[in-house]
This record gives sequence, structure tokens and C-alpha cells, in this order.
Amino acid sequence: MINIAVFVSGGGTNLQALIDNIENGKIKNGKIVIVLSSKENVYALERAKRHQIPSIVISRKNYIYSDGFDSAILKVMKDNKIDLIVMAGFLSIIGKSIVDTYPNKIINIHPSLIPAFCGAGYYGLKVHEGALKRGIKYTGATVHFVNEIPDGGPIILQKPIKIRNNDTPETLQKRVMKQAEWKILPEAVNLFCEGKLIIENDKVIIKNS
Ligand code: GRF
Repeated sequence: MINIAVFVSGGGTNLQALIDNIENGKIKNGKIVIVLSSKENVYALERAKRHQIPSIVISRKNYIYSDGFDSAILKVMKDNKIDLIVMAGFLSIIGKSIVDTYPNKIINIHPSLIPAFCGAGYYGLKVHEGALKRGIKYTGATVHFVNEIPDGGPIILQKPIKIRNNDTPETLQKRVMKQAEWKILPEAVNLFCEGKLIIENDKVIIKNS
């Protein structure tokens, strides 16, 4: 059984997708043992509570130095014997010490087809605003491993979404979440838990696919 920690900062709809896919048996060999939030009073914490999943808030503003923040996170990960960290809308930067402790064991969901509209400054609605401003015809979501480069790790899964003429950033965000994020994040977590993700030359190969 893979012990999973889910990192959140907001509404937790991707956390909910993971919870639902564990409870319905689509994710067979994984268990969310803790939800770690960067903020108090976010709805993601309510979702964890409703499913009897322990949670903790570790806020960057409570630490003078980033090293202290990273150490606090690492202690929680070790205490819970975490095998996989899933970043589901976590808005704080995690440091090199965490990435180095969990090489290719941290997964992130990003609401674009990386390498488009990612990296510094591209998060939340800003991603969809950029896509609409550029006039691209397809956007989507990407699940990738986390390394030291923001949104730069090996790509696991992507799912394209067609942009509509009347889309706003809000309508596009909702459709990308519903039709892409909430599907490929659980799928990627299940592949990890089934041991089907192989990394060669910084590329992800999915066994038997
Ligand atoms: C999602 O759009 C995800 O792609 C991005 O942050 C948002 C988190 O939303 N990284 P939620 O908290 O999972 O609802």
C-alpha cells in the first residue's frame, strides 16, 4: 500500500477526485494518510475531515526562513511514512531538500499542456487568461513529476481540451478541471501506485501502454 500525502491550498476539488477514486476502487494500492494545507480554513480541509483523513496546516509565513518550512514539512512526511506526495493546488514553493528526499515521488497537476503557460506567474486563473489572450485552440492539463524546475519535471499524463469561442477564464478553468484534471490526476496516481511509471532520460514510460 502506497502512503500518500496530498498538499493543498484551496477548494480541494483535485483532492476530492483522489478521495473518490480511492473509495470507488479505481486507485487500488494507495491510501491518503494526510492532507497538508498551506492555509487555514480552506475547503480542502473540510473535504479531508468529511472522509476522516487527518490534516495539518503548515504555513510559510510562520517560518522566517524557507529551511524551517521545508524541515517542518519533511518531519510530517517522515512521521507518516509517506511514499508519494501529490501537489493539488499547493501554492507554496517547496525547497530542494524536499525534492531531493522524494526524487520522482512528488506529482503535480498543472492546468495547461506543459510547456505552455507554466512556470513562474502561471497559476490558477492566470493560466487560462494567458491561453485565451494568445488565442490557442486547445489547452488542457498536465500531470508531471516535480523536480527543482517549477513545472519542469518529467511529464506523466496530459489531456487536451478544446477552447470555445465564448470561453471566459472561469468557464475554461471549470471545464479543464472537470474534463481533464479530475481524470488524469487519479489515473497518474494509480499508475504510480501500481508501479507502472518508469523514468528514462527524464521521460516517463508507462508500462504496458
Ligand atoms: C487546479 O486548477 C490545479 O490545476 C492547480 O490548482 C488548482 C487547484 O484546485 N494546480 P483545487 O484546490 O484542486 O480545487
